[in-house]
Amino acid sequence: MVEILKINRRCYKINLLSKLNLKPNYIYETILTTYTEDNIPNAAPMGIIIIDNQTVIISPFLSTQTYKNIEKHRCAVINFTYDLEIFFQSTFNPHRPKLPFQFFEKATKINAPRLKKAIAWIEVKVRDIQRNEIRARIIGEIVEWDIGTIPFQPINRGFNLVLESIVHTTRIIEFENDLEKVKPLVNLIKQYQRLIKKVAPSGKLVEIIKQIQKIIEEKGLWN
Ligand SMILES: Cc1cc2nc3c(=O)[nH]c(=O)nc-3n(C[C@H](O)[C@H](O)[C@H](O)COP(=O)(O)O)c2cc1C
Repeated sequence: MVEILKINRRCYKINLLSKLNLKPNYIYETILTTYTEDNIPNAAPMGIIIIDNQTVIISPFLSTQTYKNIEKHRCAVINFTYDLEIFFQSTFNPHRPKLPFQFFEKATKINAPRLKKAIAWIEVKVRDIQRNEIRARIIGEIVEWDIGTIPFQPINRGFNLVLESIVHTTRIIEFENDLEKVKPLVNLIKQYQRLIKKVAPSGKLVEIIKQIQKIIEEKGLWN
């Protein structure tokens, strides 16, 4: 019985992508937590790309505290949350730590903090760091992950961009004879399309935005 439970747990643990609804090569908006060299917990929003069940890419600017912390400790926790207050405070709060100490607890397998209230966590060890003058590309090895009890859908900007594009298209159709109104909306959709291809490179969202383009083209308003 114990053995079966262990095997079930192992299978459960293997399938990170499906358990967390993550798609390879999509960019997900998360909160990275790390320790400073003085062991102060730090939190910062970062987009992450999941490559497969073992590998993740993080791209902090070299100027960020997060980058310095990862370079020092060679690890970080990826926290998934819907709490926009946490996104806001961990971007702009000038105090240190940016979030109260009691928001953090120690990760299980690495020397990094994690957010107690996150919906899911991925613990990452650095496998390799590539960098140019301004930004690093950190290849991370997933060493542990867990998910709470709340049903979970990771944040991907493509969802909102497609929704906005649908709304704008209804306005474009409504005002098709008023080019002054139509032009900025078409330009916005073109910009969203470029972003969608970046953050959600395959699947339903790119298909929908292609169809939106077709609807606007058929009205002769795309160019
Ligand atoms: C949704 C979101 C995603 C972000 N993604 C990144 C990112 O991938 N890399 C980066 O360097 N900064 C990113 N930022 C900006 C950093 O979070 C911001 O500069 C932060 O203040 C860095 O904090 P730190 O210096 O404590 O690391 C993002 C911000 C937001 C709101």
